[in-house]
Amino acid sequence: MIYGIGTDICDVRRIATSLERHGERFAQKVLADGEMAAWRDRSARWPDRGLRYLATRFSAKEAFSKAIGLGMRMPMTWRHCEVAKLATGQPVIVLHGALKDWFEARGLTAHLSVTDETDYAASFCVVEKIEAKLGSSA
Ligand SMILES: CC(C)(COP(=O)(O)OP(=O)(O)OC[C@H]1O[C@@H](n2cnc3c(N)ncnc32)[C@H](O)[C@@H]1OP(=O)(O)O)[C@@H](O)C(=O)NCCC(=O)NCCS
Repeated sequence: MIYGIGTDICDVRRIATSLERHGERFAQKVLADGEMAAWRDRSARWPDRGLRYLATRFSAKEAFSKAIGLGMRMPMTWRHCEVAKLATGQPVIVLHGALKDWFEARGLTAHLSVTDETDYAASFCVVEKIEAKLGSSA
């Protein structure tokens, strides 16, 4: 059963402004440790792709926060919600800490899609509740 859906659009230019103003501290506030490594690597090689990586993560986390119905309120935090990738390139939500406990206690699972263009990044997230299987009697 669908537990919740969430969507978000992020203006890449606003992310650029925040980075200019706060430097790497801004990325550190938004990104989990694994994401920081990918962001640093991408930014060093292609600054524009680094910026869009940060913007898609920002939008994905906001979309996820809406899909679980909490918004950016505890236990939902930027750094406890990591956007990783499967070998196929598909983005996948990996949770940490109290957020992971909260999510698993409710039997939830998340599906995520992200996209970006020059000035915008957008994400859509569906959170599903795995229903306990009833004993089969037929
Ligand atoms: C959910 C949230 C992160 C989105 O904020 P935003 O990026 O400024 O705004 P967006 O335009 O992307 O989304 C706003 C919409 O999110 C939806 N929304 C708000 N709270 C929500 C929640 N708990 N669950 C699901 N959806 C929510 C609403 O539909 C809202 O639109 P409306 O106000 O017109 O009804 C924000 O509302 C929130 O959680 N704020 C509380 C905590 C906070 O202020 N943290 C600071 C973060 S730096």
